Amino acid sequence: QHTIRSMAEDEQMLFGTAMRYQPFSDDSGYRELIKNEFNAVTIENEMKMELVMPERGKYDFSQADEMVQFADENGLQVRGHTLVWERIPWWLDQGNFTRDEITNLLKEYVQTTVKQYQGRIYAWDVVNEAFDNKGNLKENFWLQHIGSDYIELAFRWAKEADPDALLFYNDYENEVPSAKTEATIKWLSELRQKGVPIDGIGMQMHLDIANDFHVDQVQNVMNQMEQEGFLVHITELDIKLQHSGEDLETKQQLQAERYAEIMKVCLQQATCDSFTVWGAADPYSWIGFTEEPGASVAYPLLFDDKLKRKPAYKAIKAIF
Ligand code: XIL
Repeated sequence: QHTIRSMAEDEQMLFGTAMRYQPFSDDSGYRELIKNEFNAVTIENEMKMELVMPERGKYDFSQADEMVQFADENGLQVRGHTLVWERIPWWLDQGNFTRDEITNLLKEYVQTTVKQYQGRIYAWDVVNEAFDNKGNLKENFWLQHIGSDYIELAFRWAKEADPDALLFYNDYENEVPSAKTEATIKWLSELRQKGVPIDGIGMQMHLDIANDFHVDQVQNVMNQMEQEGFLVHITELDIKLQHSGEDLETKQQLQAERYAEIMKVCLQQATCDSFTVWGAADPYSWIGFTEEPGASVAYPLLFDDKLKRKPAYKAIKAIF
């Protein structure tokens, strides 16, 4: 029987999922599901600075190493996630550092981490979630301590460390026209024009079926980004729903249709050759899982709590 994985491969496409150390380390069903159904993984948390550098100057790649090894052994491509983000280790947040110290620390951190996996990562989410909804740079630790240069520096450092990995800027709510989307495209295009090595833009796409959604808007934004020379990948798709019990089936059907239209757009675009969902099965979603009617945290993914295919899975498969 065909899987989305095999059909995606026929289209030279990566069909990925986020993968987390817990349950990766203790649930063989989870590992089986991932290696059978996907051909790519994003390391969900274990390459984030909070986990990689729990103390100043001390690197811990043990969990990420195990996961990357599993991916290599099973023919899964790996997306590195994420080098520069507003979430930072407590010792950095609480510490007293000069601008130079912080710049050097970030450079060393980015290059050590990228080199650790050199040649084994198809794309790095270099900078994550740098813009706010108005289109201004978020007042995060890096902006405050380094200044707005932190973005271009991070890309240049990553490029030096692994010239072959694709380098991405990744964000949420950048898939529809908005002040944030406009500012992102403008800002990144300017950097690109002056030679900053930014290959692409990641659209996270954490969606909710209760919200309005127009797939043609997504396509317009993807076109705009591609016209500026960027690759566009879908990096963290999930679609949550809130149900009353009785309307669960209807809601899951809507969810399935939305998943399918997003895959369809991705297939139509020239550069969207990586489509990643943010978790393999509902109980492992970052937004949680409960079967309680009324909860907004239920059922966001493609496989259910028994690791079985959901309507959304079948709807995506039917697109190919
Ligand atoms: C989330 C993980 O899924 C959770 O397990 C963790 O507790 C917090 O981070 N945008 C991102 C991801 O770029 O890194 C986030 O992942 C989800 C939102």
